[in-house]
Amino acid sequence: MENWVDIADVDSFRVGTCRTVEVGGRQFALARVADRFHLVDNTCPHRGTSLGAGTIDGDFIFCPLHGWAFDLNSGSCLDRPEKSVKTYLVELRGGKVWAKLGAFAAKQN
Ligand code: FES
Repeated sequence: MENWVDIADVDSFRVGTCRTVEVGGRQFALARVADRFHLVDNTCPHRGTSLGAGTIDGDFIFCPLHGWAFDLNSGSCLDRPEKSVKTYLVELRGGKVWAKLGAFAAKQN
């Protein structure tokens, strides 16, 4: 499971919520939609606000500052298609949320 990181407990997350998680000093926004989890970069590409402090509606996360909406599946921005956020693979294993963070995660070990 190279480059996979345990980032949260499933039971600590209510459906329809999001929060900021930190791995090795880097922040991500983790969101729960029904029984699915999504992980995207935490920094809003508009003015840098924390998306983890935003709100969830359906498969979208809304920035808390100006309300731009980002698709949690693709990272694309509904308001400004040229501004997207990076998404990461997430899996549930043994009551934990695991994220594949690639080369970044490998540097943390
Ligand atoms: S800072 Fe996110 S929409 Fe403006």
